[in-house]
Amino acid sequence: MTELQKVLVPREELQRRVQELGAEISRDYEGQELILIGILKGAAVFMADLMREITFPVGIDFMAVSSYGNAATTSGAVIIRKDIDTDIRGKHILLVEDLIDTGLTLKHLKEHFLNSGALSVRICTILNKPSRRLADVEVEYSGIEIPDEFVVGYGLDYAEQYRNLPEVWVVATE
Ligand code: IMP
Ligand code: MG
Repeated sequence: MTELQKVLVPREELQRRVQELGAEISRDYEGQELILIGILKGAAVFMADLMREITFPVGIDFMAVSSYGNAATTSGAVIIRKDIDTDIRGKHILLVEDLIDTGLTLKHLKEHFLNSGALSVRICTILNKPSRRLADVEVEYSGIEIPDEFVVGYGLDYAEQYRNLPEVWVVATE
């Protein structure tokens, strides 16, 4: 059984941070070729908002991954369930994620894209739980730091539910 407990991040705060991140990314990549890669399904909502805050034409693509085992045992290796179909060789890549928890997924994906010939790979997340980090991975664009609580909404799910909530909620799971 699950129960929504309280709003952790209201819509206005999400919107404000997305605008700030979009402005920062626009400044940093001005005049360069940039591809945003959203990690499905969670990043779909953030990706849609973020891309509209970028002030020059960007390419977009999506991928879906799942990790081997659980966070306690995994090396961070991921299985690619759906790959991108963009040629990223020689291009700047920005990985767009809903939430960085252990960081294992993103550390692996960053290496994957660097090995695939990307010119650079940076990470942008709307939510960040730094207290849970296991992998040493740099997050260049970090939206909002949250405590170690299970959250849903703004793309994030619990058992595939609640992704469509416009705010981020804390959920009680049992
Ligand atoms: P990690 O950084 O490799 O541990 O993976 C982070 C991913 O785990 C996120 O993209 C989410 O899909 C999922 N995740 C971690 N914490 C939460 C949470 O509080 N709510 C929903 N999904 C979560
Ligand atoms: Mg995810």
